Amino acid sequence: MAELIELRRERHACVVSFRREAKLNAISQQLEQELIDALAAPELREAACVVFTGGPRVFSAGADLNEMQGLDPASIVSYYEGSGDFAERVAALPQPTFSAISGYCLGGGLELALATDFRIAAPGAVFGLPEVGLGILPSSGGTHRLVQLFGAARAKELILLSDRLDAEQALRIGLVTELADDPLHRALQHATRLASLPQLAVRVTKRVIDAITSGSRASALELERLGYGLLAQTPEAGGETAKRLRQR
Ligand code: COA
Repeated sequence: MAELIELRRERHACVVSFRREAKLNAISQQLEQELIDALAAPELREAACVVFTGGPRVFSAGADLNEMQGLDPASIVSYYEGSGDFAERVAALPQPTFSAISGYCLGGGLELALATDFRIAAPGAVFGLPEVGLGILPSSGGTHRLVQLFGAARAKELILLSDRLDAEQALRIGLVTELADDPLHRALQHATRLASLPQLAVRVTKRVIDAITSGSRASALELERLGYGLLAQTPEAGGETAKRLRQR
């Protein structure tokens, strides 16, 4: 029975809520494992979209600092073989994913948000990567994703020079997709739109975009063409306009 993660369906979306508010949703290994278990739940797999949220007060204050003390190399290797892979599993979800962010979104919390496709933040949200100050680095895929999203120079600025960013600053540099007073409500509005689109096309497009960002131009073009070759066979291809033109 999950204690720190709650799953619920909201029409087309599955909402995954962190439930460790007393510790500002710090990401403990128990929370990571419950999150990984939740990712396999049928109500999540069948949803058109997945929204991750910490509720209206805090998204997450990052990795649980109490669990970081005195780890030897062997336990760190086994950590990444186990629940330490949580952000990659979020990134690998086939349907579009959102982070609905209020309050603190720090360290591993921000890395989790970066593993989702869209980040919607409340005006009072606060972002930061305190890892280097703690003698470590963002290592839940966050360093890689920041370089991929913003290039090396901006990634270095965010990780090495920035202390905290407010929501406006995060929006200006593209760290968040948009601001909304109620980020969960806004994410659910997007979910309704996404659920109205041909689902195979949505999922294939997400896969192709993710593969493009990790490959060469030649392989990207090939992937786009293969994706088109597959989707052109579906009844939705061309939509109503193509049907109307064919009937002329
Ligand atoms: N790991 C474990 N516990 C954490 C935590 C973390 N990352 N962040 C907050 N908590 C706990 C606190 O220990 C405290 O627990 P307690 O009430 O049992 O003492 C509770 O959450 C509330 O935190 P508190 O520091 O009292 O809240 P605040 O509003 O004064 O400060 C922060 C908020 C986010 C500025 C502060 O908690 C903080 O700096 N947290 C660590 C952030 C961090 O470095 N994360 C990256 C890890 S790589």
